[in-house]
Amino acid sequence: MEYFSDLLTREMEQAFERAGYDGALGKVTVSNRPDLCEYQCNGAMAGAKQYHKAPFMIAEDVAAQLKDSAVFSSAEAVKPGFLNLKVSEGLIQKYVGEMAEDPRFGSPLPEHPKTVILDYGGPNIAKPLHVGHLRSAVIGESIKRIVKWHGDRAIGDIHLGDWGLQMGLVITELKKRQPDLVYFDPDYTGEYPEEAPFTVSELEEIYPFASGRSKEDPEYYKEALENTHLLQEGNRGYRALWNKIVAVSTADMKRNYERLNVSFDLWYGEASVHDRIPGMVKDLKEKGYAYESDGALIVDVAEETDAKEVPPCMILKSDGASLYTTTDLATILQREEDFAPDEIIYITDKRQELHFIQVFRCARKCGLIRPETELRHIGFGTVNGKDGHALKTREGGVMRLETLLDDIDAAMLEKIRSNEEIGEEEADRTAKQVGLAAVKYGDLSNQASKDYIFDMDRFTSFEGDTGPYLLYTIVRIRSILQKYAAAGQGKDASQCRICAPGDEAEKALMLDLCGFSQMMDDAYRDLAPNRICAFIYRVANDFNSFYHGTKILTEPDEAKKEGYIALLSLCERMLSACIDVLGFSAPARM
Ligand code: ARG
Repeated sequence: MEYFSDLLTREMEQAFERAGYDGALGKVTVSNRPDLCEYQCNGAMAGAKQYHKAPFMIAEDVAAQLKDSAVFSSAEAVKPGFLNLKVSEGLIQKYVGEMAEDPRFGSPLPEHPKTVILDYGGPNIAKPLHVGHLRSAVIGESIKRIVKWHGDRAIGDIHLGDWGLQMGLVITELKKRQPDLVYFDPDYTGEYPEEAPFTVSELEEIYPFASGRSKEDPEYYKEALENTHLLQEGNRGYRALWNKIVAVSTADMKRNYERLNVSFDLWYGEASVHDRIPGMVKDLKEKGYAYESDGALIVDVAEETDAKEVPPCMILKSDGASLYTTTDLATILQREEDFAPDEIIYITDKRQELHFIQVFRCARKCGLIRPETELRHIGFGTVNGKDGHALKTREGGVMRLETLLDDIDAAMLEKIRSNEEIGEEEADRTAKQVGLAAVKYGDLSNQASKDYIFDMDRFTSFEGDTGPYLLYTIVRIRSILQKYAAAGQGKDASQCRICAPGDEAEKALMLDLCGFSQMMDDAYRDLAPNRICAFIYRVANDFNSFYHGTKILTEPDEAKKEGYIALLSLCERMLSACIDVLGFSAPARM
């Protein structure tokens, strides 16, 4: 279907032409004075110079052409030269009616779907997930779903931090604590045991311990570097132990991501491209892109137009070790080979922006990627506490993701328990579902690049711009639809037909829905889930105003009642589709 606003613009362009003006002046936009009109056109203002005429006169000429318009029920010229517009009820009925018939609400699928890789999550093996990982998971999952909704092939890759010094540190500490483990016996040639020699909580204690010690003890640090090197060189015992560390750690991660309703198509990590690095390095050297500087291997990526200095991209350290940059470059090679993607999108903390500028430039310069492949980095801000500083535990430590989710679930459970109709088990389940919406909506309703304040009281409120408010609205609509079905006197909701809006509140709601496909395309173009949040919040508000002013189930006029039911059913399906794209769902009741 054509965008609703394009349909209005087309009508306006023709009116400008019929009045003897340039049709291109007829752009129609949503009114910024909703108290006066629904849409507006400022073309007469823009045309004044061109036609040496007062804008008001132009606006009047155009308005005269719209007297019998089937699109605008009123087009009024107002000083100094605006056109204030109201949309015809018949057009709205037709447009919303068509949306209601289409499972995609009038959004066409692309003729040439793209292949898009989404790199998000990015947790590090052996380190517990902390609140910083929340945003990558929540935003990344939603962007993946936006891309999928649009009709592209979306592939999510978690890109584990599973290589490098952090693994060497864990191995070093394990060796100190359990030197007799068979993994450390260089003469051992048999099979390694099935069972890991540690639990996930032990692992999570070991890493920070080892990391702290390495900062104080240079000998220990040196040992960790050596062990990292041995691991990367392929030491058999170390590799076997590494496999165990990865297995134990990812099992725990999977549990956490499942709880967040986040899933990945690929569980690749930095380690999975290790074997590509020597070939890549050789190639970069041979082609003359990479050269040695102070013992390190680097590629220049600065550009003349850089306002801030962009340092060279470091490929190998002077000791020959690879870096974060190196694995990211090799991963680009791997993705090109496996999927030839049209686009790769990275979702990380915005403090990694420079890293991605370097990686993207280096990949292009050295031809690691086809010129037509787009590379995009979505950098997000920090999750802050109410004090405006990064969210911490009460003791001042890093906030674990699990703790945060537990806290929100507990707060939600308290509220849901006040509904006495809901039993213990359902309350538990519902609290988790609504809690997740609270957390995700609290994050996604902000522009990703901005920091936001994690405000437990606000996020879990059933009122205002919150996840629970939206779920509550959906639950309310469902309950009316259920009551209608249970009464069993009318048609099935799917047989009910949309009517023309009967009052201002109904019209406002229907006009909101008309903006759906354009909003989804905007969200896709900008990779901005916050646009979907703003849309559903407006729909929910306008629905609730409509609901409070309208007797729906007791409406005596059967055709009118069926019109309401058709509209409610469309609202319910559209809101449900939107929250699914945001990555959460609504309970049966709350
Ligand atoms: N593991 C990284 C971190 O914790 C994030 C990885 C993001 N993805 C990437 N391809 N670099 O900061």
